[in-house]
Amino acid sequence: MCNIIFTPFKINHLTINNRIIRAATYEGCADANQVPLLSMIGFYEELAKNEVGLIITGFNATSQAGRAIQPRQASIQTTEQVKMWKKVTDRVHLYESKIFMQISHAGRQTLKKVTNRRIVAPSRIASPLFRQTPTILNKTEIKNIITEYATAALNAKMAGFDGVQIHSAHGYLIHQFLSPHTNQRTDQYGGSYGNRLRFLKEILVEIKKQCGLTFPTIIKLSLGDDFGYTVNDTREYLCLLNECSEVDAIELSYGTMDRPFNIIRGNAPLDLYYRFSPFFKAYPGFLKQLIFLLVSKKLKRNLMPFNLNYNWESAKEIQTHSTKPLFLTGGIRKVADIRSILEKGFTAVTLSRPFIREPELMLKFRYHLADESQCINCNLCTIHCDSPKQTHCYLLS
Ligand SMILES: Cc1cc2nc3c(=O)[nH]c(=O)nc-3n(C[C@H](O)[C@H](O)[C@H](O)COP(=O)(O)O)c2cc1C
Ligand code: SF4
Repeated sequence: MCNIIFTPFKINHLTINNRIIRAATYEGCADANQVPLLSMIGFYEELAKNEVGLIITGFNATSQAGRAIQPRQASIQTTEQVKMWKKVTDRVHLYESKIFMQISHAGRQTLKKVTNRRIVAPSRIASPLFRQTPTILNKTEIKNIITEYATAALNAKMAGFDGVQIHSAHGYLIHQFLSPHTNQRTDQYGGSYGNRLRFLKEILVEIKKQCGLTFPTIIKLSLGDDFGYTVNDTREYLCLLNECSEVDAIELSYGTMDRPFNIIRGNAPLDLYYRFSPFFKAYPGFLKQLIFLLVSKKLKRNLMPFNLNYNWESAKEIQTHSTKPLFLTGGIRKVADIRSILEKGFTAVTLSRPFIREPELMLKFRYHLADESQCINCNLCTIHCDSPKQTHCYLLS
């Protein structure tokens, strides 16, 4: 019997060989200037040679102001960055895999000491975790950021990427425009659903103008977050995006970086979080310890549990409202579940931690050497995104 997982599908005109996508995953393989290191080539070759049909890179910053706090985040603004990424895509293309670059602007979810720029957002509302009061973006600045996204996409195309994913989830800048909690504007970028979606739509239109209509352009949306943005909002956006020919597929995720463990679920090693997090670097050890004791109880209370396929319940409620190819992410671990999600109408699933744990997972699934991932969701790899280390599975080292 034909296994739906290993059947090809299309994003725009591009054929992808199978339906388990490597979800965007921060690599920790770039230097202080955000230029990919040589280790980035091996990092992605490992997935390509193991027949992952589509790989989505970790988030790349559109600009210095859009840079996130992770110390080895890559970017796609300079000639040097484009040159190194081209080496990565050339290597991936020796195999049958395709590779998309994820592009992101952090908005209020970063620190001034990291960007050396003003912190910007749609409205003057500080993130409860990052605690930087942002400057409200004016219309000229919004237009400039839209151009930066399109330039980043064009640079990605020049670097040999098969497509781009515009990060519109996890509380970053586009999510800040989409959420009624963080967007309290009264101009044409705030208020109604159509207005809050305008920023994302204008980015997509500009990308297609720069890169051509056939250049695959997908987005990642949160199904909801912990601060008042709900699955009903996502449903409205899916309906509006049906009319947006510039978006070729939509990945559904959850949450914001204000509660990062609710994006990924699983174990929350808070003691390590405090060790590596740049929020607490300035504090001496004893003070860090005190803060840890005070806030860890509260943080723990807000943690959502890890369930297999934890975004499925929300996603299934709204999937019929979209005419676009949909991808689902979040705690997907078993072949049987993947088949079931695909048979129920999703075009593909995306996996992150399972490919950190076993880059060869696709081959194991294909040749029936495994029917589920060995990842135990300990989240040691997640915590180390704030450290200078390359992303890898800590159970293996
Ligand atoms: C180490 C790590 C890094 C991640 N980096 C990104 C990223 O750069 N961009 C993004 O959209 N999501 C990122 N994610 C979230 C994943 O793409 C995915 O949505 C989430 O981990 C749920 O999938 P999983 O249960 O298969 O890990 C990251 C997750 C992990 C564990
Ligand atoms: S460290 Fe390994 S087992 Fe733990 S969550 Fe990451 S990939 Fe999974």
